[in-house]
Amino acid sequence: MMSTPNTHTPDSTTRKEASAKRKTKVLIVDDEPAIREVLEMILQEWGYDVRLAADGAEAKQLVESYDPEIVISDVVMPQLSGLDLLRCLKAGNPSRPVILVTAHASIDLAVESMKQGAQDFITKPMDYPKLRAILKAAESDIQTRQTSRKLTSQLERGSGFGEFVGTSAPMREVYDLIVSLSSTDASVLITGESGTGKELAARTIHRLSKRADGPFIPVNSSAIPETLIESEVFGHEKGAFTGAVVTRPGCFELANGGTLFLDEIGEMPLPLQPKLLRVLEDGKVRRLGGKQEFEFDVRVLAATNQEPRQAIQEGRLREDLYYRLTVFTVHLPPMRDRKEDIPLLAQHFIGEFNKKHGTNVEALREDALEMLMAYSWPGNVREFRNVMERALILSKGEWIETFHLPPYLRNPGAESSSKIVLPLGITAAEAERELILKTLEKTGHNKAEAARQLGLDVKTIRNKLKTYKIED
Ligand SMILES: Nc1ncnc2c1ncn2[C@@H]1O[C@H](COP(=O)(O)OP(=O)(O)OP(=O)(O)O)[C@@H](O)[C@H]1O
Ligand SMILES: [Mg+2]
Repeated sequence: MMSTPNTHTPDSTTRKEASAKRKTKVLIVDDEPAIREVLEMILQEWGYDVRLAADGAEAKQLVESYDPEIVISDVVMPQLSGLDLLRCLKAGNPSRPVILVTAHASIDLAVESMKQGAQDFITKPMDYPKLRAILKAAESDIQTRQTSRKLTSQLERGSGFGEFVGTSAPMREVYDLIVSLSSTDASVLITGESGTGKELAARTIHRLSKRADGPFIPVNSSAIPETLIESEVFGHEKGAFTGAVVTRPGCFELANGGTLFLDEIGEMPLPLQPKLLRVLEDGKVRRLGGKQEFEFDVRVLAATNQEPRQAIQEGRLREDLYYRLTVFTVHLPPMRDRKEDIPLLAQHFIGEFNKKHGTNVEALREDALEMLMAYSWPGNVREFRNVMERALILSKGEWIETFHLPPYLRNPGAESSSKIVLPLGITAAEAERELILKTLEKTGHNKAEAARQLGLDVKTIRNKLKTYKIED
């Protein structure tokens, strides 16, 4: 029997109310009954579930039986001091927030309690608005930790595909397509903006294909000087041209039995394109200066971050080559179209970079995550990954805060209107250097994309980087 969709089932309403009503459990520890009782009243008024303990021993018992989410403890108490209790609680559950209260505040004590992992420190007479803010901050930490744990366990169970992280609908379509293309030997053109994971897609197709045990050879036409590209692709015999001091196999020979990945085909020099097409049609290649033909068995995957039709129209990509390379197309969606993947991706990179840098970052603060969600990520996952690595290195602590994120993320709306300020008096070269640097920063250090935005070709950019001594 079909049931009619009903968004307001009594069941879901009760659940919502129940979760809204669930109170945060707070344990208050103080040896003075009057203080305990006032605090109890006020916290109950604020909507907390409260238990009271008169000393450290009682507090420890209640921690076992009541399992509070937050502990507020006096510092000076007979027997167990607040600091000792803090140490003991932190040993049992390092992430449970403990707030210390004292009438005898000193800088030393404040420093010591923070060092021991106290959430915060507040002095008597109690500043209640401040206490309330501290409690709110503690609750927000608890919430963030829970979310990060959920994400981590989701990642452990696998929430993506191979090395791809993300469960959004557009990415699931990509995964399905990759699976079905892996069993064929057809050429595939992988499209998508810079940093969307085109190379990762190519490697994944290779790994899932029957060629997995063969080599995977990437050739990036935009990264090789034009004078060398033919010899890279076709190989050369010793003495084929000045500088050819040794014989070199070309990429078809290297990829024999495996997969050849032609990256950035939109950047491939025009004179090379018909020659490449010929080799692909014949399944045979001859080294520059060579006589013998080499018959190869290679699957070709190609990628471009440009609109291929536009590249054809502008005469940068030959149509016949395009059709030869494009039996199937896989399009990787830009990050701005799958923002729901951002929390998972963030948690994934936190894990990766914690390992790499030996850091212990647990999660992003809520507002930092919001900042990442609000940005449009022109450099896509590569830019995102760079931002996360930088944030982790800067953070050193448990959290990534908004101020660990680059300034261009911090100013809302900055990306669309991002500007550079150039003081009068600098040279045109200095201005150009600044412009290139900023564009590279904005594109997640993607030279091809930066070149496109600047209206230059990649080779020009590369030369300018050298001239201006900009490190890669
Ligand atoms: N969905 C994803 N999950 C996890 N990591 C990803 C994902 N997509 C991309 N990456 C990572 O982001 C980085 C950029 O990916 P990749 O090099 O495949 O992008 P690309 O599309 O080839 O970029 P470009 O156009 O600049 O060459 C790599 O480190 C890759 O591992
Ligand atoms: Mg790439």
